[in-house]
Amino acid sequence: MLDIAVFGSGRGSNFKAILDAIADGRLPETRIVLVVSNASDAGILDLARAARLPYRHMSRKQYASEESFVADMLAALRAAGTNLIVLAGYMKHLPAPIVTAFRHRILNIHPALLPKFGGKGMYGSRVHEAVLASHEALTGATVHVVDEVYDHGPIVLQRTVPVLDTDSPESLAARVLEMEHHILPEALRLVAEGRVTVADGETHVHIRPV
Ligand code: GRF
Repeated sequence: MLDIAVFGSGRGSNFKAILDAIADGRLPETRIVLVVSNASDAGILDLARAARLPYRHMSRKQYASEESFVADMLAALRAAGTNLIVLAGYMKHLPAPIVTAFRHRILNIHPALLPKFGGKGMYGSRVHEAVLASHEALTGATVHVVDEVYDHGPIVLQRTVPVLDTDSPESLAARVLEMEHHILPEALRLVAEGRVTVADGETHVHIRPV
């Protein structure tokens, strides 16, 4: 069973795409065990509440130290039985001890064809503005394994989306978001079926549900 903790900072449409995939049977053997947001008013928390799922508002500002923040986040993840973390529009950098504790078990969805148009500061409309400014014929969406560097880890699944001459950053974002809603559940299904192997240096790590 894949027990997923979903992290998000915004409206949560990718989280909703996972919920819908579970509801209509496209994601067997998969459960959402926790939803975390750094923003107390984030739409993703409203969706979690409506779905009667466990959720936490966890922001570094609530804690006296980074250590206590990380300890509480780790405790919440472990108490929920998390064996995969999914970053779905999470705008904060995951603390390194969390990446270490869940090595090769954290996925992120990014609205571009990584490694292009990724990295610190490349989020939201900025990504699509950069794609348009570069006159790319194609953009797309990427699901990748998270490591300590923004948008850097091994790619699990990537799909292209055409860039139209008439595109604005908004129209491009909408077309890419639609593709995100397809590939994120698809990537989770691959992991749930034990079909994702991560080549990490010399080793090939098989990401499998425990
Ligand atoms: C998505 O475009 C995702 O690729 C990016 O942040 C956005 C989140 O949107 N990381 P939503 O909150 O899932 O609707």
